[in-house]
Amino acid sequence: MSEQDCSKLTEEVRKLESELGEKYEGVFISDPDKIASIAGEIKTQTGASDEAIKCYIYKNLSIGNLTPFLLDGNLEEIMEIGGGEPVYVYDKNTGMTESDTTLETKEIKDIIRKIARYSGRTVDGSNPLLDGRLPDGSRANATFPEVTPRGPTLTIRKFEKESLSISDLIRFGTMTPTLAAFLWLTVEGLGTKPANVLVLGGTACGKTTTINALSHFIPAGERIISIEDTLEVNLRHKHWIPMETKPSDPGKDNEIEMDDLLKNALRMRPDRIIVGEVRSKEALSLFTAMNTGHDGCMATIHANSAKEALTRLQTHPMNVPDVMIPALDLIIAQNRRVEEGKIVRRIVEVAEIGGREGGTILTNTLFKFDPEKKKLEINLLNGRIIQELSTLTNLTVKEIDAELDKREAILDTMAKNRADRDTLHEVVNLYYKNPDEAIELLYERVKG
Ligand SMILES: Nc1ncnc2c1ncn2[C@@H]1O[C@H](COP(=O)(O)OP(=O)(O)O)[C@@H](O)[C@H]1O
Ligand SMILES: [Mg+2]
Repeated sequence: MSEQDCSKLTEEVRKLESELGEKYEGVFISDPDKIASIAGEIKTQTGASDEAIKCYIYKNLSIGNLTPFLLDGNLEEIMEIGGGEPVYVYDKNTGMTESDTTLETKEIKDIIRKIARYSGRTVDGSNPLLDGRLPDGSRANATFPEVTPRGPTLTIRKFEKESLSISDLIRFGTMTPTLAAFLWLTVEGLGTKPANVLVLGGTACGKTTTINALSHFIPAGERIISIEDTLEVNLRHKHWIPMETKPSDPGKDNEIEMDDLLKNALRMRPDRIIVGEVRSKEALSLFTAMNTGHDGCMATIHANSAKEALTRLQTHPMNVPDVMIPALDLIIAQNRRVEEGKIVRRIVEVAEIGGREGGTILTNTLFKFDPEKKKLEINLLNGRIIQELSTLTNLTVKEIDAELDKREAILDTMAKNRADRDTLHEVVNLYYKNPDEAIELLYERVKG
């Protein structure tokens, strides 16, 4: 549907606007299912034509002529650059593409103001920069001509609804089924002690994706709070509260930082806390949480090795005292490198914190991947974590080993058959209640 199509329907749309009045005031949609259901409601109430309803929705409840881009699952980014240029889109398959839609300056400004209103912010000549959000979690950045003289700009980074799953990560070689089974068992904690986990690595090496994939092992009934600068973690859990930092309003000092959110989250009785990337004083709050009985915390940190991560944690601005570090159970080091001309993201090391000697933190390597020699060293059962789980559950290490084998077989089957997310979610959660039924369900699904 283009602007021309809608301009032919101006009269009908106006009629709809007056009929519906304020009924949908403040409703702002970017989800195709919601658009369809609201369109149905309007149809029942007014009997207007489908085309007119579509135009009414685009104009009033969504982001105008940019809406179709928002609904297109192949697009990662939508870019309005001003100066009468067409809208650019970044397509997953074809990359940067010029679209055949061009917007008028007035329409762009209207869309930007609408996003600002939705995000509770103002944008105008004296506040020409906007960081906002759309209801589906997409991020929007906009500028007004005071800083971009060719015209207002708008950059929408669409929210990735489906992040890679554990079965994708196994398939891509990021982790082996054996390692994935170990992480499943420790993240879940055999119903006793979920591990506190830190994923480290460089930019874009897949830290957040790994945390997200591991989160799917958290039993469905647990209360999860995630804290991020930009919403990236994406869970299937119903009892999940995603929290996001908020920048200061212009001229005010009312920024809400990760640390504020984390401190607040601790008063919300979470079962699990997931922290996007720790950079600053929130690290101390996170370790305080881990040291006061909050198990199953997960976070990422920008570092190149376990040693570097531990040093960074203990120095300014994170300042975590060394006595607090052993509350962390696992450090997962991930990297991104080119192997045989292809980008591969791999978990290269998993270490557990063995304790402390003097001021030095002892680590115990459980898993190591040598990308040069393509060699694995696996020592998963000999560590403190498995010992602790054995004590807590009254299972022998041998029994835990058998449990790992069972989970490994499930993960391997899921990866090889590209099991979908629903299957993953259902199988994992049924497994906690009845492992045999879960395995049966999995085979049914991958065969069917
Ligand atoms: N294991 C992986 N294999 C292939 N692609 C991945 C993997 N992990 C992440 N990606 C892709 O890499 C990009 C960056 O991932 P992200 O998890 O955000 O990295 P980080 O948190 O380390 O900055 C995303 O587009 C994601 O889809
Ligand atoms: Mg990240």
